[in-house]
Amino acid sequence: MIAAMSTNRVIGIDNDLPWHLPHDFKFFQTKTLGHHVLMGRKNYESLPTKFRPLPNRTNLILTKNKNYQADDTHIFHALENAIEYAERQGEQELFIIGGGEIYKLAIPYADTIYLTEVNASLKGHAYFPLFDKQIFKETLRSYHPADERHLYSFDYVTYQKT
Ligand SMILES: NC(=O)c1ccc[n+]([C@@H]2O[C@H](COP(=O)([O-])OP(=O)(O)OC[C@H]3O[C@@H](n4cnc5c(N)ncnc54)[C@H](OP(=O)(O)O)[C@@H]3O)[C@@H](O)[C@H]2O)c1
Repeated sequence: MIAAMSTNRVIGIDNDLPWHLPHDFKFFQTKTLGHHVLMGRKNYESLPTKFRPLPNRTNLILTKNKNYQADDTHIFHALENAIEYAERQGEQELFIIGGGEIYKLAIPYADTIYLTEVNASLKGHAYFPLFDKQIFKETLRSYHPADERHLYSFDYVTYQKT
């Protein structure tokens, strides 16, 4: 899973991101490029049209709507089917890219969480789920200060299932 959350676990507001953090955006691009990315229908529709589907990645969308269509994507109605599809394609690292409902659904399947911990408490409508830090151990933490392009400081943190 790959996500960015505030200190109070906010990941989104009004179907958008609550921040503009270009370095974190670059991190997301670098990590996910070339991979299968799985997202909820709301997250997909929140992407700016020029990034939809996310280029140079295989976009998998989860929806309960049996009639849902989106060009150049693969639509699934059950998480397990999407995971199986990526495995059948030989994917070594499927990225769960949110939003809140999908993170919550997928956490039991996750091996690694790349979590950008934004050092701010913010208002929002979508949240990153609580997860057990006895099961997911912190293996890496790297600090990024606030600067003229980043309103908040943040930490890139990796949690791995033990
Ligand atoms: N900070 C971050 O890292 C980050 C990352 C991604 C997104 N976000 C933010 O998160 C917010 C969106 O998150 P969200 O929680 O509102 O929505 P979401 O998780 O992106 O999508 C929810 C949708 O997924 C589908 N879905 C959910 N459970 C399902 C199931 N069991 N089977 C099949 N389909 C299922 C449903 O689609 P249908 O209604 O079509 O059935 C549901 O409405 C936005 O604000 C976005 O900007 C933040």
